[in-house]
Amino acid sequence: MPRNIIDLGELHDRIVVFGGPYSNLEATEALLKTVDDLGVPRSHVLCTGDMVAYCADPVEVLALLRSSGFGLLLKGNCEEALANNAKDCGCGFDEGSACHRLSKDWYSHAVQSLDDETKQWLAGLPDQAVFNFGGKRFSVVHGGARQNNAFIFETTPHSVKREEIELAGSDAVICGHSGLFFTEVFGEACWHNAGVIGMPANDGTPRVWYSVIDSIPEGIRFSHLPLAYDFKITQEKMRKAGLPEGYASALETGLWPSCDVLTDAEKQKCGVEAVPRQHIWKTV
Ligand SMILES: [Fe+2]
Repeated sequence: MPRNIIDLGELHDRIVVFGGPYSNLEATEALLKTVDDLGVPRSHVLCTGDMVAYCADPVEVLALLRSSGFGLLLKGNCEEALANNAKDCGCGFDEGSACHRLSKDWYSHAVQSLDDETKQWLAGLPDQAVFNFGGKRFSVVHGGARQNNAFIFETTPHSVKREEIELAGSDAVICGHSGLFFTEVFGEACWHNAGVIGMPANDGTPRVWYSVIDSIPEGIRFSHLPLAYDFKITQEKMRKAGLPEGYASALETGLWPSCDVLTDAEKQKCGVEAVPRQHIWKTV
């Protein structure tokens, strides 16, 4: 299928990136407030997709994001599945895995909640975006440039990331999907995942994560930052809607109900408290 790629042109000074709102209205509202508190223009706020997933408010989250004026709302595999009336979320979970079983319940909630006009709007969202920032060319994809549900982690070999960056035709790739944030600078290339705001980072705390990217004199600075929000409200709505308890509990415990998608190396980090991080890509 041809990819729908949009060019955001030249972005300046500061960008905010976030992924995976996952139908979590309270986290999405908190992100919006943070963006405005930071004074970042809404045109410089980029979402890496999966707006609709585990939590209870797909309609409200989409309405908020559609009216936000954010520079990019990328199509995740969840949006693609909903737009195509697919039978599942398209995350690529193995049949019979815990993720696969759990996804059935939230996915049917989302399918039933969204009207045809919304699904058509989801279908028209971009699969990839490109922009210039700090003298570098960036591509934004959901999972990977080749496949929108590819799981690319910090521990994924550089050779895989280099191939993806080359395929994207950029100096750097920003992605989402895997739910875990990281930045890697290797040689002339850079890979960045801002993490997700709809679920914790599997680190044993309820915080969720976004990133701020600044153009600074020596290059480009990536800051991974936590976001706090009232997860009790989100939990209550999920339980009232009969959504999977595993995801409702995860909002508080900070631990995913299943780690099926993680590599062995990523599983080692399960429950290890994440800390804010900064990475500088020296480009000057
Ligand atoms: Fe995804």
